[in-house]
Amino acid sequence: MPLAVADVIVAENLVKRYGRVLALDGASFSVARGEIFGLLGPNGAGKTTTIKILTGLTPPTSGRALVAGFDVVREAREVKRRIGWISSEIIIDDELAVMENLEIQARLHGVSDWRERALQLLRYFGIVEAAGRPAGKLSTGMRKRLEVAMALIHGPEILFMDEPTVGLDVGARVGFWEVIRQVSREFGVTVLLTTHYIEEADRLCGRVAIMNRGRVVAVGTPDELKARYGVDVIEIETSKPADVSMLRQFGEVIVLDGKIVIKARRAEELLADVVRAVDGIRSVRVKKAGLDTVFMSLTGASMESGRADIRRVYARVRWARR
Ligand SMILES: Nc1ncnc2c1ncn2[C@@H]1O[C@H](COP(=O)(O)OP(=O)(O)O)[C@@H](O)[C@H]1O
Ligand SMILES: [Mg+2]
Repeated sequence: MPLAVADVIVAENLVKRYGRVLALDGASFSVARGEIFGLLGPNGAGKTTTIKILTGLTPPTSGRALVAGFDVVREAREVKRRIGWISSEIIIDDELAVMENLEIQARLHGVSDWRERALQLLRYFGIVEAAGRPAGKLSTGMRKRLEVAMALIHGPEILFMDEPTVGLDVGARVGFWEVIRQVSREFGVTVLLTTHYIEEADRLCGRVAIMNRGRVVAVGTPDELKARYGVDVIEIETSKPADVSMLRQFGEVIVLDGKIVIKARRAEELLADVVRAVDGIRSVRVKKAGLDTVFMSLTGASMESGRADIRRVYARVRWARR
């Protein structure tokens, strides 16, 4: 008897070698029914390889994975019946109408009574008025919704999405998060997605596995991860020069443009002591840890978020102008 709440995805010590490349180096995690679960990591971390193994596209070199209770290698057919998958490759045929695209997907899965379900999905995702339109005429946001509808046409328990919002502008990305939440809420589908957008993991996912170099280095809700590994920043402006050596007991201290910056875990617990230790305070600001600092603490490297890239570009421009 399957349990009502059980892990619907279990990855145990997954290793994947491509020749001399070790894409996965013993990755483990599990996902409970109904979760929106994110694999977060930089390019090359092993996210796509993990999804390929879980969807039965490629076998692990060693290790084991169960999806919906079935072994992804030995029981691949049972797994495929119960999952939907959206890859970065486009599966939509632009020449065909929206409904025809859904029909093809339904027939691939051997679903005969697909029409009612197709309309229900289009209605849920707010694109039913486009049912007869050629798919090539859809906006990017509507197209993403069609992809999700196609992936759900056979009523899967689990939806896998590899970097679902790459290429979307910020507005469309936030809109698509709502679609994913709907999939989870209205259809009770468990969602596993990969992303290299820190904000996406933070705001969309109930739990996150942080991946780096083929391993899962931490798993938890975004808040748990931030509380456990995150680094807060305390910024203090003063009218007098501060005794920096005295502040080192609280964390890493940097003096920047006359501002004292202290990087520390759980800043709010330190704040009273910090304030007592500094004379002539003009202002104090606390920036709470983001998942970027979690990644940095765990790996010693930056996630290379888009923002960091932009900052580097500005630095270069400033340097070039001197
Ligand atoms: N088919 C392949 N052949 C050789 N190396 C591969 C192949 N697929 C992925 N890799 C390598 O495995 C590592 C993990 O890749 P991938 O799973 O695609 O990471 P991510 O999706 O997190 O960017 C990378 O170093 C990548 O170059
Ligand atoms: Mg990838």
